[in-house]
Amino acid sequence: MTVNLPGGGAVNLGHCDIKAHYTQVRGFVGESKMRFSERTLAGMIASDFDRIANQYERLQATLSDRASARLVGFAGVSEGQTVLDIGTGTGSAAFAAARLVGPRGLVTGIDVSNGMLSVASRKAASQELSNLRFIMMDASLLEFGGCSFDVVISNLGIPTYRFHDAVSEAFRVLKTGGSFCFAEFTGLPPAWFSLSKVLSKFAVKRAPPELQRRRQARAQMAKEAAKFPLSSFSGVLKSVGFVHLQTSVYGITVPQPPSNLYLRYLITRERLEYDAMPKETKRQFREEMMRRLEDLRGGSSGKLERRVRFWLAQRPNPES
Ligand SMILES: C[S@@+](CC[C@H](N)C(=O)[O-])C[C@H]1O[C@@H](n2cnc3c(N)ncnc32)[C@H](O)[C@@H]1O
Repeated sequence: MTVNLPGGGAVNLGHCDIKAHYTQVRGFVGESKMRFSERTLAGMIASDFDRIANQYERLQATLSDRASARLVGFAGVSEGQTVLDIGTGTGSAAFAAARLVGPRGLVTGIDVSNGMLSVASRKAASQELSNLRFIMMDASLLEFGGCSFDVVISNLGIPTYRFHDAVSEAFRVLKTGGSFCFAEFTGLPPAWFSLSKVLSKFAVKRAPPELQRRRQARAQMAKEAAKFPLSSFSGVLKSVGFVHLQTSVYGITVPQPPSNLYLRYLITRERLEYDAMPKETKRQFREEMMRRLEDLRGGSSGKLERRVRFWLAQRPNPES
């Protein structure tokens, strides 16, 4: 099978030799100028994560790393394996997997956000890891041949707005007998509830066109994600063909980020909403958010508690 690479050119994937595949695409890794169209859901997500990439690494890394450590253990990642990390972001799970597969293995992180991948690539370069690659790619349309990976993992990165497509793609690219393991939060963090409350109070009614498009895309995304609530995930995995399903829930407690940094992070994420507000409204929005973030910190003794659910499943091996 020949596929066109997002950065231009084509590569033949009619085999399961993932190392050869990477030799061919190496020039493209970390150098892609490709952008997902802002008008698609993946494009909106990509631009959101592009904006917050550096702050994400500072504020979320501890939480992500704790979940990733659990994920790669549950997935049974081991020496010499080829591993795909979906929605790799700044690479938390990919780095955890790279340590386990060692120099004979290969880990590939894919994501739609160039900003997140740039942070991941910089970290990999500074650690001189040669068994780790990051590629810009949509989880619902993977550009790998079938049976390419021993394990597919995703730490909080499975696109729930494209859940069925992403799971089908994970199944296709897994070798028979391979494992698929992913993690998802069981609910939103309290700060996000506060943000949506405060936004609904201060957001402008007459939005400029770019903001209107974003609001429409947001609504569309929520509609798509609502088709696959967490309670439906196991059923989807089975319907796609996965077997030997297991799930477990894990509680993670990390320090709540300082309120001023958290507020800046939330504003960066909601940049279009914030920029559209008049100056005085911006001040009120910041004040109310800051007060709520401080209340949350006080109420939780500065600790952020999150619950993460893990799913593990196998692509059947007809020979066993
Ligand atoms: C919450 S972050 C998780 C990042 C990372 N796995 C971690 O543990 O910190 C979700 C990531 O999924 C990526 N993502 C969302 N939709 C995607 C899609 N359709 N294909 C690939 N990546 C996607 C986002 O760009 C973002 O980097």
